[in-house]
Amino acid sequence: MAGDRPAQAVILAGGQGTRLRPLTLARAKPVVPLLNRPLLAYQLALLREHGVTDVVLACSYRVDDIRAALGDAGHLGMKLRYAVEKEPLGTGGGVKNAADLVSGTLFVLNGDILTDADLTAMRRYHTERGSRTTIFLQPVDDPRQYGLVETDATGRLGRFREKPTADAEITTDTVNAGIYLIETALLGRIPADRPSSIEREFFPALIADGVPSYGWCAPAYWRDIGNPGAYREAQMDLLAGRARMLLPPPGQGDQGSWVGAGGTAARDARVVPPAVVGQRVALHPRCQVGPAAVIGDGSTIGPDARVEGAVLWERVEVGSGAVLHECVIGADVKIGAHARVGSGVVLESGAVIPERTTLTR
Ligand code: GTP
Repeated sequence: MAGDRPAQAVILAGGQGTRLRPLTLARAKPVVPLLNRPLLAYQLALLREHGVTDVVLACSYRVDDIRAALGDAGHLGMKLRYAVEKEPLGTGGGVKNAADLVSGTLFVLNGDILTDADLTAMRRYHTERGSRTTIFLQPVDDPRQYGLVETDATGRLGRFREKPTADAEITTDTVNAGIYLIETALLGRIPADRPSSIEREFFPALIADGVPSYGWCAPAYWRDIGNPGAYREAQMDLLAGRARMLLPPPGQGDQGSWVGAGGTAARDARVVPPAVVGQRVALHPRCQVGPAAVIGDGSTIGPDARVEGAVLWERVEVGSGAVLHECVIGADVKIGAHARVGSGVVLESGAVIPERTTLTR
């Protein structure tokens, strides 16, 4: 590999995100908002930080959402192109479908992870080992929902086990963290005309054929934003400083609070940090936003209402005296006066909650 040549990246952004429903019924997973910015903006910022500015998005589902949120990413200092699948081609076919746009050593990222992994160090490791494909590995407490990856003492990849169920199959705590370096010459091994899986087909075949393939395991913040709980937690991590903010939230920052332009706030409305309040938000008398709250653009927080540990998308109306605690609220939701929405509740975009209702998980 030419170690000094800028690498390119393909981001896999074509999944339907079924585990993140109902949020993904209204918006594609790669662009669900994290602190009021699309998830992929954080990946683009990470790539840019490591000198990768030429990125292809492998898409097939709700492509218009993704284009609307990111465009060509020129405003982020990136060159962003789209490789759109007619039918979903899976994680292998998605990369294959982008193959004509890339060359050399390629980063491939799952479009649903938030991480600050040191991609420069990963690339160095790949080059030093003479690796042809390198997988970012992370240790996790409960590996059952992930793909397990075994390595030998030199880091060379051994067996793959996708989502093991029996305890005897849990032979390691390191899982596939969804970032790969792949020499593009290897993409010829992926079939062009049918869906395929990079995890279940491409990597196991490379290992079986003795192609030098390594696992790179380094400390980093890493979270798979696959389900609503992880989606909310990732934002709590950013607000609490457990995850590095690769991008500051939009708005004017002041000691852990960010407030967008064009809003109104009653004199006795309180924003308790950490908190992110979008543009054109109305904060009515005595309401409290935060700690740990994210309010989407155009939302209204009624008198005496409280929002804590919660994430609200755009144009949410919170009635007077309502209490929202550790929940996720989709766009255009109306929460009636004195309603209570509790921990772990996720409301689909457009939902209407009558006044004095209590919702728990
Ligand atoms: P679930 O339905 O909840 O499992 O989510 P998902 O559809 O996103 O699947 P998964 O989390 O396994 O996908 C891992 C990554 O691959 C995500 O970034 C997906 O967007 C992406 N992906 C999954 N299937 C496809 C596909 O058919 N084409 C492309 N281009 N990307 C895909």
